[in-house]
Amino acid sequence: MSRRLLVTGGAGFIGTNFVHHWCQVYPDDRVVVLDALTYAGNRLNLALVEGRANFRFVHGDICDRPIIDELLSTENIDTIAHFAAESHVDRSILGPAAFVQTNVVGTFTLLEAFRQHWETKAKSSNYRFLHVSTDEVYGSLSPDDPAFSETTPYAPNSPYSASKAGSDHLVRAYYHTYKLPTIITNCSNNYGSYQFPEKLIPLMCINTLIGQSLPVYGDGQNVRDWLYVGDHCRALDVVINYGKPGETYNIGGNNEVKNIHLVELLCQMMDELATNLPVRPTKQLITFVKDRQGHDQRYAINANKIKTELGWMPSVTITEGLRLTVEWYLNHRDWWEPLLSEEYQAYYRKNYSVK
Ligand code: NAD
Ligand code: TYD
Repeated sequence: MSRRLLVTGGAGFIGTNFVHHWCQVYPDDRVVVLDALTYAGNRLNLALVEGRANFRFVHGDICDRPIIDELLSTENIDTIAHFAAESHVDRSILGPAAFVQTNVVGTFTLLEAFRQHWETKAKSSNYRFLHVSTDEVYGSLSPDDPAFSETTPYAPNSPYSASKAGSDHLVRAYYHTYKLPTIITNCSNNYGSYQFPEKLIPLMCINTLIGQSLPVYGDGQNVRDWLYVGDHCRALDVVINYGKPGETYNIGGNNEVKNIHLVELLCQMMDELATNLPVRPTKQLITFVKDRQGHDQRYAINANKIKTELGWMPSVTITEGLRLTVEWYLNHRDWWEPLLSEEYQAYYRKNYSVK
């Protein structure tokens, strides 16, 4: 079945990778991206697909109901892949208001618009609303706790995860109340190409390339489960096509790593792959800085449900994925250098001076 997709947040990190994936695998589908182009969105990310006849980019906000209504009806959208969000925990600590606005109010606005649109289409069973969410809604694990499953109770700890939890609850309620065909995915930390410099892996790659210190929060013992973004996109593809409305699927990489080990591995790869490093070996740039407020200790995902029910498994190992990512940042200086703007420097000073 060919689809007509609305991809919100398609100019951000995962959205961009997802649009590339979808246009390659389903070249006949219509893909419309709606993105507000906040600091994290970059229209140039979509240059590879911009020329296609069945691709359209719309600069707009998911809180803007008239724009969404107009797009859903004129484009005859049957599937929403909802990525748009404020996504960075540190920014949510510095300024939570935008997180509530985009993540909660924006998701609500999309749900209401999609519900009305779906009702005018006789509640077609082919419609889908995929809500891309995070494992952070489940809170923090101790070292010996079992990994998060789909039935783990929600216990968000940061303004970011609380706003994502709020949006998840609304999505769930729209299925339960109206039978709107929604699906939620909760995924672990992604990494790969086009990730904005403020997140751990791109930040460490870029700082080694410019000879700046590598700030590790607290004692560096916090654990994250890392998933290569291409694997995440494949999982979302499977969920859109074969997932069951009303269900939640956890997605993870089965790759738990302590932050300090990850940064050391990245330093080794940079030393091996980069020429002209300002400081070498790059490990000497590692600096322990004051911990993030309320820093979650550990995330881990039990992805058995998506494996047994939909046959998805991650395919890229952490070593392969990190190598691909390091190579991408090495070869795309023209992409990331302009992002180290005055606004970014101001955020950086503010974030790392309060730590
Ligand atoms: P990102 O910050 O890189 O991109 C977010 C995109 O949304 C940007 O293009 C931005 O311009 C756009 N946007 C923000 N506010 C908007 C608004 N009001 N209207 C329209 N567009 C708006 O984020 P990401 O890392 O690509 O994450 C995408 C989604 O995946 C988010 O919902 C996030 O919660 C979820 N997620 C991310 C990760 C991760 O590791 N990055 C893991 C699990 C889940
Ligand atoms: P991040 O990429 O911000 O993702 P999240 O907080 O959503 O998991 O951070 C990943 C981990 O790396 C997290 O434990 C915080 C830590 N971290 C640092 O130690 N230093 C940094 O400069 C950043 C950005 C993150």
